Amino acid sequence: MNYEEESRQTLAELKKKDHVRILAIESSCDETAAAVIEDGRKILSNAVYTQIDLHALYGGVVPEIASRAHVEKVDLMVDQALRDANMALQDVDAIGVTYGPGLVGALLIGVSCGKALAYAAHKPLIPVNHIEGHICANFLTDETLTPPFACLVVSGGHSHLFSVDDYGVYRIIGQTQDDAAGEAFDKAARVLNIPYPGGPLLDKLAEEGDPRALKLPRPKTEGRYDYSFSGLKTAFINAVHNARQKGQALNDADLAASFRFAVVSFLVDKAMLAADDLHLTKMALAGGVSANRLLRREMENACQKRGIQLYMPKLSLCGDNAAMIGSAAYYRLMRGEIAGLSLNARPSLRL
Ligand code: KG4
Ligand code: ZN
Repeated sequence: MNYEEESRQTLAELKKKDHVRILAIESSCDETAAAVIEDGRKILSNAVYTQIDLHALYGGVVPEIASRAHVEKVDLMVDQALRDANMALQDVDAIGVTYGPGLVGALLIGVSCGKALAYAAHKPLIPVNHIEGHICANFLTDETLTPPFACLVVSGGHSHLFSVDDYGVYRIIGQTQDDAAGEAFDKAARVLNIPYPGGPLLDKLAEEGDPRALKLPRPKTEGRYDYSFSGLKTAFINAVHNARQKGQALNDADLAASFRFAVVSFLVDKAMLAADDLHLTKMALAGGVSANRLLRREMENACQKRGIQLYMPKLSLCGDNAAMIGSAAYYRLMRGEIAGLSLNARPSLRL
C-alpha cells in the first residue's frame, strides 16, 4: 500500500476515534511554530519561536533570513511541542501544515518538514490555509463558538471581512483594495521611528496620545464593505513630513493615537455597516491586528450596542502560531481534506 492509500484508510479510522490529536506546523512568515491540538479545540502544547529580533535590524522581514531561521528551528519547535504535550510522534493522529499564503521559501520549510514527518510516521497530512488558521484561533479561545458567524481578519498581509457559513465554508463580504491594516500600522510606525514590527508599539504609544490631534481623511472604496489603507498611510506620512519641515512640534503619542483612531474607526464602521445590512448576530476578530487595544475596545462597544455576540482570540493566539493551524487542520481532516506527498507551498493561496 502506498502512502496516499494508507492515509485514506487511516482517515476512515480516525473519524470513529473519540479524540483526534494533530501536530501542526506553521512557518509562513517570521514565526516558526509547532503545536499539538485535540479535537480542534483544546491546546495540548503551543511552541512559538519568533524571529523578530533577526529582522528588526532591517526594518522588515527579510525572506532569506526567515527561511534560514525556519530550517534551524522547525525541528526544535516540533520536539518542544511533542514534549510539552507529553507525546511521541507516533502518538499523534495526523500532521497539519500551513501551505499558504506567505513567503514561498518560509512556507517550503514547514511543508517539507510536515511531509517528512507524515511519511515517516505513516500519518495523514493536512494542508492548511494560514488565514483559515487565524479565524480558527477563535475556536481555541471560546468553545461555544460555532458557525455561522462573520470574521474580520486583520493581519500584516490581509484585511478581509468573511462570512464563515460553516466549518471550511467562507464567503468574502469585504476586503482591502490595497494595503493590509497591519502593513499600514507598520509603515506609519516607521515614520515615527518605531522599530519593526511597529504595530504593537504604535498601539502602546497611542494609549497616551490624543486621537483628535491630527485629522486624517476617510478613504473611499468601491465596494460598500471594502477597505483601503494606502491613502490613509500616505496622508499620515505626508502630514508628519510637512510638519517636520515647517519645524512644527508634533507629539509622537498624539500622532500614533490619531493614526490608530483613523484605522480602527474605519475597520469598525465598515464591519458594523455589514453587520446592520446583513443582520449579523455573531462576529469574530482574527489576525495580528486583532491584538490592537483600541480595535478590541471599539468592537466591544459597537457590538454591545447592537446586541451582537463578539468573539476575540486571546492575545497569545492573535499573532502567528501553530495552535490555530491545528484547529483548522482538525476540521479539514473531518471533511476528508488530506494531501499527498506532492503538496507544495502556495504563496498566493486564497481562502
Ligand atoms: O497575523 P500576523 O502575526 O502575521 C500575518 O499573518 O501577517 O500579523 C502581523 C501584523 C503586523 O503588521 C503587526 O504590526 C500587526 O499585526 N500587529 C498590530 C498589533 N499587534 C500586531 N497592529 C496594531 N496593533 C497591535 N497591537
Ligand atoms: Zn498571520
